Amino acid sequence: MLTGVNGQVGHALQALLSKHAWYSNAVITLDRTQLDLTDADAICRVVETVKPDLIINPAAYTAVDKAETEPELAYAINATAPKILAEEAAKIGAKLIHFSTDYVYSGTKLSAYTEDDATQPLSVYGKSKLAGEDAIRAVGLPHLIFRTSWVYGAYGNNFLKTILRLASERDALRIVADQLGAPTSSHSIAQAVLEVLSQLENGQPQNEVTGVYHLVNAGQTSWHGFATAIVEEYTRIQADRNWPPLKVTPANIQAIGTHDFPTPAARPANSCLDCSKLARNFLVTLPNWRDTLVVELKNLPMR
Ligand SMILES: NC(=O)c1ccc[n+]([C@@H]2O[C@H](COP(=O)([O-])OP(=O)(O)OC[C@H]3O[C@@H](n4cnc5c(N)ncnc54)[C@H](OP(=O)(O)O)[C@@H]3O)[C@@H](O)[C@H]2O)c1
Repeated sequence: MLTGVNGQVGHALQALLSKHAWYSNAVITLDRTQLDLTDADAICRVVETVKPDLIINPAAYTAVDKAETEPELAYAINATAPKILAEEAAKIGAKLIHFSTDYVYSGTKLSAYTEDDATQPLSVYGKSKLAGEDAIRAVGLPHLIFRTSWVYGAYGNNFLKTILRLASERDALRIVADQLGAPTSSHSIAQAVLEVLSQLENGQPQNEVTGVYHLVNAGQTSWHGFATAIVEEYTRIQADRNWPPLKVTPANIQAIGTHDFPTPAARPANSCLDCSKLARNFLVTLPNWRDTLVVELKNLPMR
């Protein structure tokens, strides 16, 4: 049972699962109209009816800044709903795959975070996501929680799309350069989850794997570095593809500080996540963020 199929990760998971003969017949996909996660009774009813072996829950309240003024809604979707999904799954012996975020950390660490590092979310969104993780852990069913970061892709609204739009409208951009992390494509996340699933299907690995895992593309950059790479790589591909040129050149993307671009929700300065636990337990490693960006750009629908 897959929730949130109109979201970035949900859509990518649905697309990949539908290509696998076994999964394509076995997956029940649900969008918000079929399962509203703010409706506790509906969650219980749907899980009782579907009786899944596995629930994958990429649905979430992801409006980071808006969450500061809508904490109840953010907690309902990001904390209460995962708790009920976990309780209902536990009743029928189902497993749960859930997604979380780099925003559970304060970002003050000077190197990449490991799953053992202390969490200290700075925002309502981060706190609500951590509450969801905690609730799942408290239920104690077999689960995997994948903390990811800076999700983008050809589908959905995201930084890649915003930069391409702004870069075609404006002569110059000002982008934050003092927040570090790993842009991660929704397709990379889905691909990694499928690899993990196929290992679990095959009875691998044999040790205890329940718990939280970092799951991001390899390498790191800043939002400014990401924006510059988007413009550079688009410009390289654009001539071959007959896409419209951008107005902005990489030289006209100005690096600014977080203090120059105040937002309602505070973001961690360091969002870098160490993925070695995923590599150790599942032998899954994700490609470098920049190589992935090129693939994602080439997959963009013709503009
Ligand atoms: N986006 C990021 O940069 C980022 C970074 C780190 C972690 N994550 C985590 O990664 C996971 C996937 O994120 P994403 O980027 O795929 O998010 P997304 O594109 O914003 O999609 C979220 C999905 O959740 C659905 N949803 C929201 N409220 C709902 C409700 N009340 N009932 C049912 N469905 C509801 C949305 O439905 P509608 O389509 O109808 O609105 C949407 O399809 C989430 O757990 C998120 O917290 C995301």
